[in-house]
Amino acid sequence: MPLLRIPGLIDAHVHLREPGSTHKEDFYTGSRAALAGGFTFVLDMPNNAVPILTEKLLEEKITLAREKALCDVRFYFGTNGKNIEEFEKVSDKPEVFGLKLYCNHTTGEMLVENPDLLEKVFAGWKSAKPILVHAEGEQLVTALRLAEKHKRRIHVCHISQASEVELVRQAKIKKQKVTAGATPHHLFLTKDAIIKMKGYAMVKPPLGTEADQDALWTGLKDGTIDIVETDHAPHTRAEKEKNPPAFGVPGLETALGLMYKAVKDGRITHDDVIKFLYTNPKAIFNVPDQPDTYVEMDPELAYIVPQSGFETKCDWSPFAGMTLYGKPQSVVLRGRRVL
Ligand code: NCD
Ligand code: ZN
Ligand code: ZN
Repeated sequence: MPLLRIPGLIDAHVHLREPGSTHKEDFYTGSRAALAGGFTFVLDMPNNAVPILTEKLLEEKITLAREKALCDVRFYFGTNGKNIEEFEKVSDKPEVFGLKLYCNHTTGEMLVENPDLLEKVFAGWKSAKPILVHAEGEQLVTALRLAEKHKRRIHVCHISQASEVELVRQAKIKKQKVTAGATPHHLFLTKDAIIKMKGYAMVKPPLGTEADQDALWTGLKDGTIDIVETDHAPHTRAEKEKNPPAFGVPGLETALGLMYKAVKDGRITHDDVIKFLYTNPKAIFNVPDQPDTYVEMDPELAYIVPQSGFETKCDWSPFAGMTLYGKPQSVVLRGRRVL
């Protein structure tokens, strides 16, 4: 059978860790992981060791990526609620695709909890580019309310609980400008994984119940959840085996294979895969065309996720041992073969 050709995929949520934590990942290894997974365009989060809160830090990061990345990498700006005056310096830059706001504790030092500061963030981001929130449970209620009040576009990152899916569903029914993403780990793992994998299965938001997982799949099918975003968050094995462990799992190299497993299992169609990993993220984040860019693979061809040997520097996967489908066999970016 001839190989199937699909567009270069878009991952709207990665942590490539540079600058500051290059023992976990850097723009070279992270972009190689992206290409191995069929992604030619990734959007990198600002929760670096020194958070990306100023135009200067952003420019330094852009330069590093330009020098080292093998695929297209673009960025979200960060906020701690006290850098509002930087917003208008960065929001029109073509390298910036939105503002990231952390409403819960997670990796990095960017938590905004104070209601006055939250209000200032939503009031201050005047761009049409979305505000992306890490907001779990009650924090999501607050974030949706503030986005509505200030008429801002909001993207709900890594939605994980059934109740959160319902919040987004209701907001969409009210015609609020909201989009949402689900991660492969929340779609394919439940909190039972923690028994076997311990720290390796610890992630923010935490893995949910089977009922949460069912709600995510229903949300994808009915349009409540728009995209699949990997939240590729590499940490070393040593960091995952510590007590407490670092939170986050790598995901770039397994996302496509998991989605074709979902096709095999009859949960979604091939067209859904393209919608969640290309068409919808392209539209939501206004990702420019990458001409003559595509991925070739056989979605019927099974492979087993290995224990190691990945492109990501952390070199492990929470999906090791699983049978997936459709590993990219070649990737062409702007006419040049890159995998
Ligand atoms: C992410 C990380 O390690 O940067 N961790 C995680 O558990 N998801 C941060 C985040 O996305 O919240
Ligand atoms: Zn997060
Ligand atoms: Zn993340």
